[in-house]
Amino acid sequence: METLLLPATTENITAAAQLIQRGEVVGFPTETVYGLGADGMNAEAVQKIFAAKERPADNPLILHIAEREELSAIVKEVTPVALALTRAFWPGPLTVLLPAKPHIPQAVHPGLDTVTVRMPSHPIANVLIRLAGCPLAAPSANRSGRPSPTCAKDVMADMEGRIPMILDGGVCGVGVESTVVDCTGSVPKILRPGGVTPEMIESVWGNVEVDETALTPLAEGAVAASPGMRHRHYAPKARLLVVEGPLEPQLKRMAARYDEEAAKGGVPVLVLAKSWIPCMGRRRCLPWGDVGDSAAMAESLFSLLREIDHIHATLGICQGIEPHGLGLAVMNRLLRAAAHNVEYV
Ligand code: TXA
Ligand code: MG
Repeated sequence: METLLLPATTENITAAAQLIQRGEVVGFPTETVYGLGADGMNAEAVQKIFAAKERPADNPLILHIAEREELSAIVKEVTPVALALTRAFWPGPLTVLLPAKPHIPQAVHPGLDTVTVRMPSHPIANVLIRLAGCPLAAPSANRSGRPSPTCAKDVMADMEGRIPMILDGGVCGVGVESTVVDCTGSVPKILRPGGVTPEMIESVWGNVEVDETALTPLAEGAVAASPGMRHRHYAPKARLLVVEGPLEPQLKRMAARYDEEAAKGGVPVLVLAKSWIPCMGRRRCLPWGDVGDSAAMAESLFSLLREIDHIHATLGICQGIEPHGLGLAVMNRLLRAAAHNVEYV
């Protein structure tokens, strides 16, 4: 199949919406990452998403809507937690998990009673959903296991020949996916950290829980609250090492690991805040935002993980950051990309 990569003009968004109505899958931008959208009420169309991504069949999808009122047509009950959080953070990078109405295709939430819903703030996503006239089932537009795409050419790299069209809407502003929040109980529980931080949720609801798998690997044999947390994810082909700890020993350890890899004939690269790059001498570095600017670090994380492969590095050595605010989502993605290969100094 030929994959068209087109600018997101009104004409092309209309064409994309028509493809969706005919049961096809299209790539489109959101404020978090690019998505692969299909008609969420058409089980056959939803199956095509799984095929294009090579996604494990048991990993459920998020339904994307354009109006907050559409939520009550999808879920059995909009709980007080869901109402408060969607009022505060929709449209935006918040996904709510609630009990599903019976008409939602099983393909969207295989084997589960719950379904996840989000209302993106990106204008192109919003117009596409309106024109398609249905909720869009849309995972991130990467092949399963790869870093999520934050620009159209990264979608093309993973999806060429697999889907008919990708809408190019430039670079995604947030850079990490939405926050998935279980809203079924009386306290919101973050299953996947993302663009809406725990601190932001706490400021609305007073308290918030974070699933223990946010920063630690899922225990052997344990059941994941969110099936996606089970699978290795976001990973470049190169090995990754995350170094955490106070600045000076952290930078020293990173440099030492770099030199070891180079001495073995490997191709190491350092990923660190740009202010520290001068401390690294002639070692090869990829600049990762400014110190303490977790928003800039979130925005560039996935493209840096792809860059590690573009330069054919064998080992990426990444500076760990504080897991506060957006830093929690950044560290969740980074640790999973590194399969929890971490050194604490
Ligand atoms: O920002 C985002 O959320 C992006 C953009 C495209 O909107 N989408 C996205 O979708 O990240 P995906 O499929 O790559 O990740 C959805 C995550 C997965 O970890 C999945 O297991 C979890 O949400 N999830 C979806 N429905 C669920 C459910 N009913 N119960 C538990 N986890 C669910
Ligand atoms: Mg994904």
